[in-house]
Amino acid sequence: MGRLVIVSNRAPSIDGTGDSGGLVVALKDALAKDGGLWIGGAPEQTDTPAPSLVFHHRPDFDIGLFELEPQLYRDYYLGYSNSLLWPALHGRVDLIDVQPRYAAAYSEVSRRLARMIFETVRADDVIWVHDYQLIPLAHELRALGCGNRIGFFLHIPVPGLETFKAIPEWRDLAAWLAEYDLIGVQTQRDLAHLINIFRHTLRGELRYNGNMGINGREVVLGCFPISINVEGFRRLAEEGSVGTPPPPLPRLIGVDRLDYSKGLPQRLAGYETFLSQYPRFRGQVSLLQIAPPTRDDVEAYRDIREELELRAGHINGLYGTVDWTPVQYIHRALPRDELAVLFRLSRVGLVTPLFDGMNLVAKEYVAAQDETDPGVLILSQFAGAAEEMPQALIVNPHDPQDMAEATRTALEMPLAERIARHAALYDYLANHDVEYWSASFLKRLLAVETIDLHWISRYAGQQPGVKAS
Ligand code: ADP
Ligand code: F6P
Repeated sequence: MGRLVIVSNRAPSIDGTGDSGGLVVALKDALAKDGGLWIGGAPEQTDTPAPSLVFHHRPDFDIGLFELEPQLYRDYYLGYSNSLLWPALHGRVDLIDVQPRYAAAYSEVSRRLARMIFETVRADDVIWVHDYQLIPLAHELRALGCGNRIGFFLHIPVPGLETFKAIPEWRDLAAWLAEYDLIGVQTQRDLAHLINIFRHTLRGELRYNGNMGINGREVVLGCFPISINVEGFRRLAEEGSVGTPPPPLPRLIGVDRLDYSKGLPQRLAGYETFLSQYPRFRGQVSLLQIAPPTRDDVEAYRDIREELELRAGHINGLYGTVDWTPVQYIHRALPRDELAVLFRLSRVGLVTPLFDGMNLVAKEYVAAQDETDPGVLILSQFAGAAEEMPQALIVNPHDPQDMAEATRTALEMPLAERIARHAALYDYLANHDVEYWSASFLKRLLAVETIDLHWISRYAGQQPGVKAS
């Protein structure tokens, strides 16, 4: 095999200092092994974007940045990606904003990017595309005659067919997806939805081996739950907490980008119900919610911030005393090592999204615990992580009563039960860490039978693998 070429909307940092996000941490080891290339969006936009990738060299891998004009970037990233695809794929069709210029920008970015990639890839490179911002990329690459293996991993959920159809370009999206050699999703739930979408949209036929026959070729589908560097995060938490005093009161912790899919108002509603129904806990616990800003220029994100701040203020006004603040709220990102220690020193981890592809915070919370005195994870049934983590307390985030009950159970759980639940969760994660995730995806991608070269040349009108001049 040639190089591994990763493509994602967000690029890793050029100097390696900002490598804390889930995607970067997940993939940099896979790339570093054989010195690959990571292609991603330049952090700043410019009125005069470079026509080709702008390369930077890191000791572990190379980075190729694509530049975009500010307006194109807004329509592609804030518009189509995050005002249409993100809400629709998270089941929030009430929030979608449909604008023809968004769809045009979305296709244009993949078209341009495909040209830049085609200029630079070698015939034996393997291309791995990430996430919903770049779904049309394989289609655009094939149209140029690119015969490389191309895999795609979707980090966010696949909704049911009816929800998917709320996206005006739903047929195009399904057809673009079907041009990858391998499509990876997070959960069995997503896989079932994807199969259904292909059946209804492209008359896809499920084969005995789990692949789908679509338009005369076979598309490989698989479920690959993403994970974290479990041992690394455990060590970060353990070493960082030496000498750090525990908080004065047992702490509940939530750490989420301030996104409406994370169920933050519902989480506070559950906490309020808990304080109202179990007055003995008032003044005896605290909730720390860390929620850094994200996609601030989209209206729905501004609304969720206001709602969260109102609810936190309401609870503090209702139950707070001179000596006790029920909800502490921090609206910014914290360094990763600080987060690890906060997780370790919190009795309860609250991960209660309304819909989430996976949710790495759930895995980080478990990895950070002291195995001799671990905290308890409360996990939404709608997080992808719930499929793999049944030993958490699974809740319905829409039901404040259920959340309140789980909070009480977590705080009162005997040590032996906490240890047993944590041990089962940790053992599973230790065997299914991020390396396992990337290795399983790549192994599957490399095993995909050589693609039908005639099919490619049909588009390009030329010999496959020979680049257009
Ligand atoms: P998403 O990809 O939707 O943001 P995940 O839970 O899968 O959700 O991943 C979020 C990642 O961002 C985790 O690694 C988490 O630790 C990190 N993160 C979330 N909030 C913060 C914060 N306030 N400070 C630093 N890192 C954060
Ligand atoms: O995990 C989903 C995802 O959208 C990733 O693609 C992305 O890197 C992350 O969440 C954070 O979102 P953004 O890059 O829009 O800040």
